[in-house]
Amino acid sequence: MAHNITINTPEDIAHMREVGRLSSELLDFITPYVKAGVTTAELDRLMLDHTVNVLGCTSACLGYCPDGGTPYPAATCISVNHVVCHGIPSETKKLKNGDIVNIDVTVVKDGYFGDNSRMFIVGKPTIAGKRLVDATFECMWAGIEAVKPGNCFNDIGIACYNYCEKMGLSIVQEYGGHGIGKVFHSEPHVSHFPLKRETAVFEPGMIFTVEPMVNAGRRHIMNLKDGWTVVTKDRSLSAQWELEVLVTETGYDILTVSAGSPEAPEWVKGWKKPTFA
Ligand code: MF3
Ligand code: CO
Ligand code: CO
Repeated sequence: MAHNITINTPEDIAHMREVGRLSSELLDFITPYVKAGVTTAELDRLMLDHTVNVLGCTSACLGYCPDGGTPYPAATCISVNHVVCHGIPSETKKLKNGDIVNIDVTVVKDGYFGDNSRMFIVGKPTIAGKRLVDATFECMWAGIEAVKPGNCFNDIGIACYNYCEKMGLSIVQEYGGHGIGKVFHSEPHVSHFPLKRETAVFEPGMIFTVEPMVNAGRRHIMNLKDGWTVVTKDRSLSAQWELEVLVTETGYDILTVSAGSPEAPEWVKGWKKPTFA
């Protein structure tokens, strides 16, 4: 099938590995600060400072304004509990015990974008919160494991969707992964549920994100009036994890990885976390 998905050169891939590692290191950096009592605005300030002054990057999110909407007002997205994605850091939003929190960061270095997110649980996990966070991680990896030559993008959606069905969870349909490289969001749109149309076959050198949003309740979402925040319609908990995937000759590699990245689930065959010096 014809497509206009970028096939990255070895030089592009080297840049994407570097900025991918830096975006993952930003999440390593913030991990010890994700505690009860901290405001999400304070976490955002800490991450912007680290992005610029330690990593030597800029934030891709600050001022980001696709198709004439409201410019995004912060450096990161911090989405708590029933917030699905694009939670705007706030001076009045304090984290509390049991909260489930997605922190999504995108940084830019030498014109290349690094985009990834992780879930955090504040203090003592609730049973429902931990189950959803862990299941969403497995869902992301189920999608990633579908990446191999000969398969197509729809295989990611089939794997993510089937996993959620089995767990009695629902997958958000309005947002998906995306191609990434010298632009933040490019083709393809990576669906986390099966599409009823043909999708492109994986080719070595493609780079894209897998970033399923999974709800404990129904899949439906609502947009808040601030122009960004997305919440579950039924106010049920929502979780998301995000990694960048490179298609290789034999399978895939993960580009957003650093010393603090979680290990892949045991059943994952295609990738093992490298050791960092
Ligand atoms: N990082 C998000 C993604 O995974 C996009 C955030 S755009 C922002 O694609 F403007 F809200 F930051
Ligand atoms: Co992201
Ligand atoms: Co993304």
